[in-house]
Order: sequence, then structure tokens, then C-alpha cells
Amino acid sequence: MSEHDSSTDIKQAIEESGREFDGRLATANAAVALDELRVHYFGRKGGLIPALFSRLKEVPKDQKKDTGDALNKLRDRIESELKEKTDRIAVSEAARKEAREQIDVTLPARLPQLGHLHPVTLVRQEVEQLFREMTYTIDPGPEIETDWYNFEALNFTPDHPARDTQDTFFLDAWDSHRLPLLLRTHTSNVQIRSMEKWKPPVKVLSAGRVYRRDEITMRRSPMFHQAEGFIVDRGIHIGHLRATLEFVVQRLFGADAKARMRPSYFPFTEPSAEMDMSCVFCKGAGCGTCSQTGWMEILGCGMIHPQVLRNCGIDPEEWSGFAFGMGLDRVAMLKYDIPNIRTIFENDLRVLGQF
Ligand code: PHE
Repeated sequence: MSEHDSSTDIKQAIEESGREFDGRLATANAAVALDELRVHYFGRKGGLIPALFSRLKEVPKDQKKDTGDALNKLRDRIESELKEKTDRIAVSEAARKEAREQIDVTLPARLPQLGHLHPVTLVRQEVEQLFREMTYTIDPGPEIETDWYNFEALNFTPDHPARDTQDTFFLDAWDSHRLPLLLRTHTSNVQIRSMEKWKPPVKVLSAGRVYRRDEITMRRSPMFHQAEGFIVDRGIHIGHLRATLEFVVQRLFGADAKARMRPSYFPFTEPSAEMDMSCVFCKGAGCGTCSQTGWMEILGCGMIHPQVLRNCGIDPEEWSGFAFGMGLDRVAMLKYDIPNIRTIFENDLRVLGQF
């Protein structure tokens, strides 16, 4: 190939490259496309411009300057036009991003989702308020209890069969009599604790969690809630108990709520009774929730056993009292029409959001 031929080839290649660049630049409209062009022209390996420069040595001396100038011009033009378009795209992309992320500070704020109280908490507060109005003292008790406070002082002697009805969860820890600590089976432990603390007359209400080794059914759960109320004073008789409970039921469920008392047995009360409410689900006809009886048990009650008073250093000849323990979950179920106790503990917001 003659020198003349190769120099014309290079000149042509320079011109063609210039035209081709114009076309490519026009269609490259994003930063990545421009980067690709930059590699295409200036890449260390196989970049078009360096390749053309390396061909300069083929050009005859007298044309070297012209060809070199033309190539320099092409290189400078490609460089500056790439840079100019890259900058322009960066500016408009930044503007678009800013517009997208703009915050309108005049828009009303999105309110945080507020929680609210659990139905059992609502019932507990209502019951506490009711008894506060009757000048009862609210006295919470421990959930981890000794055998004495949960059983023995309440007349459940060590082998008493009534213990079987309140089997519970025992801890790997012991009291001073080497008896295992346990999760209390009822709130009646507070009777003993309060009577030890305060001399009669006393009026106490205590609400909280209790535990039993029970299967989960529509009405039962191994953890549930009770409110314990009791009074010790001179001349307290069963009429006071009945009147108090009727007042409570009517305040909770309305003036025509139906309740009944049935004789029952607890080792720490004598006489003892249970109170039922007419089942709100079947209106007394019988359903799965009330085991087809039309009634739902909501509390146990009775006159405090003389031995329990003695266990607390109180003379039963001088003082007498009544006590009751009410199932708060049962009350919540009846009040809010919840047929299955599990619903209360599942924390499903679709359910809890209704109260
Ligand atoms: N503690 C009893 C129970 O859980 C209820 C009760 C309380 C009964 C007070 C009588 C007096 O079943």
C-alpha cells in the first residue's frame, strides 16, 4: 500500500468517525449510554481514537501535521461534546429526582395509628372503678405465690381434694418450707395478704392474671383473669354479698341482666356459691359457649371461712366477711359478644380493633 493511500484512508476514517459520532451522540440519552460511547472512543483497549493515533505513523511526513490536526480536533470535539451532554443529562436527572422527592410541608400529616385498651383491660378498669366508688382499696397481689398464700391459708390442706380442681404450674424454686413456688390459681391469695397487712374493717378489690393446668376450650384457657373482692367487718352477712353482686352485675350488664346463685363449695368460704349470668349468645336457649345450659358461670363467692380469718389473726367471733372471685375474661366475652375465649388472647387486630 502506498503512503498516499494510507493517508487518504486515515483522513476518510477521521471524517467518517466524526459523522458516526454525531449519529451515536444524538441517540445516547442516558448516562450509561454516554459511558459506553466514552469507552468506544477512548477505551484503553480498542478505543477508536487511540487506534487512529497509532495509525499516524503510516502517514507521509508532509501530511502528518494536517492529519494530526484533524485527529486532534476530532478527539477534542468528541471529548467536549460527550462531557457537555453528560453534564446536561446529570442536571436534568437531578432535577427530576428532586421533583420526585419533593415534600409538600403544607399537606396534613399522616396520623400515627393509635393503639387502645384490650377488652379485658376495659372490663378490669370498669370493675375497679365500680369498687372504688364503693370505697374498696385496690390491692394487687403477686402472680408467683407460695403454697401457703395460694392454698394452705385458704384451707386447702396438703392433701385436700379441692387442690385437684386447681392444678397449676410449679416453679423450680422453693419457699422457706421447701415447698415449690407456683403460679397462683386464683386471686384469693390477696385475701390472705391483705388481711395480714391491714386490721379489719377492710374492703379490698384485686384484679390480675391467674393460671391453671387447663385444656383450652371455648371458655377455658390456662391463663385467665380474675377480680377478687372481699370485705371483713362487724356483722357482715350473706345479704351484703348478694346485694353487692347484684349491684355489680346490673352496673356491668344493665338493669335487666339475669343472674342466679347456686350453692357450691370452696374450702375457704362457708357457705359457698357460684353465680351465673344468662348466656348472651343463645339468650338462654343453650349453645356451645354455655355447654347447652343457657347460663355462664362468672364468679365464685361465699362467706369467708372462720378458719381463714383465724389464719390471718382475725377473731371470727368478732368479725365476719364475704369474698368473691369473678372471671374477667368471661365478663368480657358476655359484654362484648365474644363466643370463644381464644379470640381474646390471639391478638388479632381485626378483633381487638372493634372495642
Ligand atoms: N377463688 C375461687 C376460684 O377461683 C373463687 C372464689 C373467690 C370463691 C372468693 C369464693 C370466694 O374459683
